[in-house]
This record gives sequence, C-alpha cells and structure tokens, in this order.
Amino acid sequence: MALQGVGRTLARHRNLRPHSRRAATAVRAGRGKISGTSFEVDTKPILRDVTFSWPAGFRRIPDQPWVTSPLETLALKYDTVESHGWYANLEPTLEQLERELTDGDICIDYSGGTGILVDRLFKRVPDVDAGFVIVDASPKFLRLAVEKLRNDARVAFRWIRYKKEERCLEQLHEVLESPLDEAGVDLIVSTNAIHLYYGLADTLASWTRALKPDGLALVQSGNIRNPDAEEHEWIIDETVGAIHRVAQTLVRDDDAYAAYRPGLEDAPRMEKYDALRAKYFIPVRPLDYYTGALETAGLKIAKVEKRTIVAHVQEWYDFLAVYHEGVLGWVGGVERIEGEAATEAAVQDRLRLIRAAMDQLFERRETFDACWTYVTCRR
Ligand SMILES: C[S@@+](CC[C@H](N)C(=O)[O-])C[C@H]1O[C@@H](n2cnc3c(N)ncnc32)[C@H](O)[C@@H]1O
Repeated sequence: MALQGVGRTLARHRNLRPHSRRAATAVRAGRGKISGTSFEVDTKPILRDVTFSWPAGFRRIPDQPWVTSPLETLALKYDTVESHGWYANLEPTLEQLERELTDGDICIDYSGGTGILVDRLFKRVPDVDAGFVIVDASPKFLRLAVEKLRNDARVAFRWIRYKKEERCLEQLHEVLESPLDEAGVDLIVSTNAIHLYYGLADTLASWTRALKPDGLALVQSGNIRNPDAEEHEWIIDETVGAIHRVAQTLVRDDDAYAAYRPGLEDAPRMEKYDALRAKYFIPVRPLDYYTGALETAGLKIAKVEKRTIVAHVQEWYDFLAVYHEGVLGWVGGVERIEGEAATEAAVQDRLRLIRAAMDQLFERRETFDACWTYVTCRR
C-alpha cells in the first residue's frame, strides 16, 4: 500500500479537500481550517481529475476471443443481483476500499464476475484514482464486465483459464503478465466467491505472490460458518437445502404435485440430485477453514467482522430461479441425470414449488436475515 497521510484522510470526506491535492474540476465556495490544515468546503460533489495510468506495456483488455463474444444470458441474469437488497453485502467492502485505496494504487478484484463491485465503487467515489484488474474464471461473466466498464481507463480485465492438462486454474501471475507481475499490487478483494475456490491453497498463494509487502486482501462471503452468527441468521446458500426439504413435504402432501412422488421415493435417484445440489451450492465450511488457509498462504489476519444482511425473499427467489436445476432438479428431472430435459410444465411446477417452499420456510415474511463474514488480511 502507498502512504496514507493527513491530506488523504481529509480527502475521504467528500466535501473537504486539502489545498495540496490536484486541481478538482468542480470545486466551489468556502475555506476553513482543521488542526492547522487549510481546506476548501465544496457545495457540490467534487470530481477531480483522475490521473491513474497503468505501467508501460500493460494491456488493459487482452486480445482474446471471449472479449468480443456475444453477451450470455446467464451472466446478464446474474448481474440483476446488483439491484437486490441482499447485495448490500458489498457496502462494508466498498467502505473499506474507499478508506484504504490511495491514489495510484492497483487493486485486483479477484472473481470480480460481471464487475458489480468496481461499478459500484465508481458510482460511490467517481474520482477514485486507482486501477482495478477484474480477474475471473468465467469468460462469460467477464465479458459482461468488459461491456460495462471497458471505456473506463482505470479498469483492466483478465480471464483465468482452467488448464485441463494440469487440472487447475491459471494462477494470477500467469495472467497479470509483466510488468504488473513483478511490480505487485496494493490490494486484492474477493466478494461472494471464496467459498467457490476448489484450489483454495493455490489461489491464496497466488494472492500472496501478487501482493506488495504490507498489501491488503479483503475477503467476504455469506457462505462461511461464522461462530458469531446469531441464531436467526441464515447462511444464505443453506436456504437451498431447507427449501429442498420443505418441497419434499409439499410434494407428498399436495396432490397437485403427485406426478413427482415416485421419483421422490427413488433413493439412488435422489442421491444424484443431492450431489447435483452440492455442485451448485457448495457445502458450507467453517470460518477457521478460511482464516487457516489465508494464514498458511502467508497472509496475516487483521480483522474478522460479521454483518447481518437483510435479504428479500422474492429477490432471493429470483436468484434461485436462475439455478432451478440445482435447487429442485428432481422435480421433472435434469438432462444430465435422466438423459432428457424436463418439460416446460415440469419446470413451471419446479419454480412454483421453490416459491411455495420459501413461503413456508420464511413463514410468509418478506425478508430474512443472512450472516455475512468479512476478513481483512495483510501480507
Ligand atoms: C457469486 S459470483 C460473485 C461475483 C462478484 N465478486 C460479486 O460479488 O458480484 C462468484 C464469482 O466467482 C467466480 N469463480 C468461481 N470459482 C472461481 C475460482 N475457483 N477462482 C476464481 N473465480 C472463481 C465465478 O466465475 C463468479 O464470477
């Protein structure tokens, strides 16, 4: 991390700007003093000049086919979470980024997906004078990030490819390339993703290698079993197993779903759907699994925090509806298990059952509380 001085602290307040900083493009009115430091008071948001530039020779957008491929429906659907209340889970991370980023810093948004975090940061702090490399394992998600952010010179994009021969993902240094690989980055952030890393140790080791000494890693996820979670708080993906259990009862009790009863009583078949569900919604691991892995990778845990995130049942349903095969695939079946896809009528029953099970599970309330865990590490 670069230095953080008094001027920087003051500049965090959107209406105060020390004289020493670069010329703002929209500074208005007033002057004053706090503890001997003179400042200007603005009557409207400041948009100062953004001067960030990448190291010479660094390519922001790789010359790869995925960059110009058509936008995919799944990525577009995923991106709608941006408007969901439960995506307030990004706010504590955005606060941290706003506090920690210094002019000229380079931040990797690891598993940045469709670019929601960086997009939100730019809306919150339009003049943030830092560079962001959005790295992701999905070229489809990344393609949407390119669509949204390609015109902003502060953003670069990197796809980490699955290497079939070695059965692992590319590591950060393989995609960052020279000169960024040698120079290192100031900050790595990972939101809503660490629970998905099957090569966790290798991934975290690649973070340590990419970070400058004293660099920060900010990790958050709603799918970590946090011992400080309150009784009423859900681990968000664990709602899926609960929906599955309630749906089984609904199928057994409601004749409208009688067609799905024989399949439900077929234990070997149901085991296959349990395995499918666990592929979509990875079983939850405890907090110390992650803090231990971060430490083993050479990162020091500076802080662990827990927040309650309120999720709207309808919005969580809208999200789960995209992954309906993983939630209740056994209703009507899925092609990779049955050899043929579910009929449209069965898919509609499946969706209706998911919603009915959610109503029962959350006792017809409109919201439920979820537990999100935030881990701050320093190299
Ligand atoms: C739930 S999305 C979160 C995206 C974004 N960070 C956000 O908060 O909106 C998870 C992201 O992690 C990526 N991902 C999944 N497994 C990964 C892995 N092993 N390494 C890197 N990224 C991975 C996915 O492609 C996806 O973009």
